[in-house]
Amino acid sequence: MLNKKVKSIILAAGRGTRMKSEMPKVLHTIFNKPLLAYVIDAVNATDSVDENFVIVGHEADKVENFVKSNYSNAKCVLQSPQLGTGDAVNKAAPFLKGFDGYVIVVCGDTPLITPETINDFIEFHNNNHADLTVMSAIFDNPKNYGRIIRDRSKKFVAIVEEKDATYEQKAVKEVNAGIYCINWKTVSPAFDCLKNNNAQGEYYLTDIVKWSVEQNLTVQSYILENNDEIFGINSKLHLAQAAKILNKKSLLRLMEAGVQITDIDSTFISPETTIGSDTLILPNVYITGKNTIGKNCKIGPFAHIRDGAEIGNNVRIGNFVEIKKSVIKDNTNVSHLSYIGDSELGSRVNIGAGTITANYNPITKVKSKTIIKDGANTGSNSVLVAPVTIDEMASIGAGSIITKDVEAYSLAITRAPMKCIKNWVKNKIEQFSGKTGEK
Ligand code: UD1
Ligand code: CA
Repeated sequence: MLNKKVKSIILAAGRGTRMKSEMPKVLHTIFNKPLLAYVIDAVNATDSVDENFVIVGHEADKVENFVKSNYSNAKCVLQSPQLGTGDAVNKAAPFLKGFDGYVIVVCGDTPLITPETINDFIEFHNNNHADLTVMSAIFDNPKNYGRIIRDRSKKFVAIVEEKDATYEQKAVKEVNAGIYCINWKTVSPAFDCLKNNNAQGEYYLTDIVKWSVEQNLTVQSYILENNDEIFGINSKLHLAQAAKILNKKSLLRLMEAGVQITDIDSTFISPETTIGSDTLILPNVYITGKNTIGKNCKIGPFAHIRDGAEIGNNVRIGNFVEIKKSVIKDNTNVSHLSYIGDSELGSRVNIGAGTITANYNPITKVKSKTIIKDGANTGSNSVLVAPVTIDEMASIGAGSIITKDVEAYSLAITRAPMKCIKNWVKNKIEQFSGKTGEK
C-alpha cells in the first residue's frame, strides 16, 4: 500500500522533427494505436495513478482532441513555446497546488513502458520514503542520454546532459531513463529555480536532482531491468523497431497461452488481442486493435482482423479475409476472399468465397449492420447490402446482391437465369476465318 496519492505528467509537447511528418509524433501509431495511448494506458493500468496531465505543444489541438475523446481522467495542458522538459512539467504546477502526493513524469513517446515497471518504481519510491526517484538504465552505448552522476561515495548527485557533459562524464554508462517519481510537496519548489544556462538553452527537468541534493532531500535512482521499456521513438525507423519488439512480446504471450503460430516473422498480433489455446495462426496474419478469438480456430494465411472482432471457438478465417468490428460465433467458416464488417454471424454459418458485407454508405457516411443467423450460408460472390438480416438456415445463391431481409430456411437469389447458346464460339470462328488477315 502506498502512503500517498499519485498523479502523472506525460510529456508530449515536443516537435519530433526526425519523424519528418505533418502529424504530431505521439499520434503516430503501432498496431493502429497512437504512441501516447500506450503510455496513458500503461499509467492508467497501475494500481495507483488516478489523474493524468498531458503536456501538449506542437500540434496541440490534434493531440488534445485525441486525449479528450479517449480519456476522461486526462487533462491537456498547453506548453507554448517549448522551453524544455523542466518548463513542461512546471506547466502542470497550477493544477497541483497544495497536492501532497507523488507525481510521476513519463514521456509520451516511449510506448513500451509497462504498468508493472511503473508500479514497482512507485513502490520503490514509497518504501524508501524518497523525495525524488529517477529511473536509470545501463547502456553500453549511452550516447544522447543524460548521465547519472555520482560523487565519490557513489551518492547520486546530478544528471548531466550529453551536450553539457565532460569527457569523463560521457563515459558513464548509467543514464537517465526519463521517468521520475516526485514528492510534489518537497520537490516542486525546484521548478521555480530552474535556469536555462546550458548547451541547449532549455529548462531541464533533470536539474531538479541537483536542487534536491542541495536541499538535503532524499534522492535515489531505480535501475530499470529491461532497457526496451524506455525505447523512445524519434524516427520512422524507431517506430518499426518498437513495433517489432511489441509484436514479439505479444506473440510470446500468445504461444505461452497455447496458441500455435507457424511463422513469428510474418505474423503481427496486437497486444490487446486474446486468443484461446490450440488456435492455429498461419503466416502473414495481421491483427490490430482489441479482439478476442476463441479456441481451436484456424486463422490465415493472409488474414486481416482490424479491431473489435469477437470470434468464438472452432472458427475458420481463411486467406484474404478481412474482419472488422464483428461477432462470429462457434463453428462458423469465413474461408476465403471475404469482407465481414459491422456484422453478427451466428454459429455454423458458412460464408462463401468472395462474400462482401457492404456496410458503408459513402454519401451518408453511415455504417450499417449485417446479421447472419445460425446455420445460414452465402454463395460465392454475394454482396449483402447492410442493414440486412439473413435468418436462420437461409441460403444465398452465388452471385446475388441482397438488399432485403431473407427469411429462415429460404433461398434468396438475384442472379439472371443462365442462357446457353449452342455453337456460339464455333459460329464466330467460321464467320471470321480468312477475313482478318491471317498470317
Ligand atoms: C531527456 C532527458 C535526458 C534523458 C532522456 C531520456 C532532459 C533535459 N533530458 O532528454 O536526461 O536521458 O530524456 O529519454 O530532460 N518535451 C516537452 N516540452 C519541451 C521539451 C520536451 O514536452 O519543452 C517532451 C518531448 O516531447 C519528449 C520528452 O519531453 O516527449 C523528452 O524530451 P526530449 O527533448 O526528447 O529529451 P531528451 O533530449 O531526449
Ligand atoms: Ca532535447
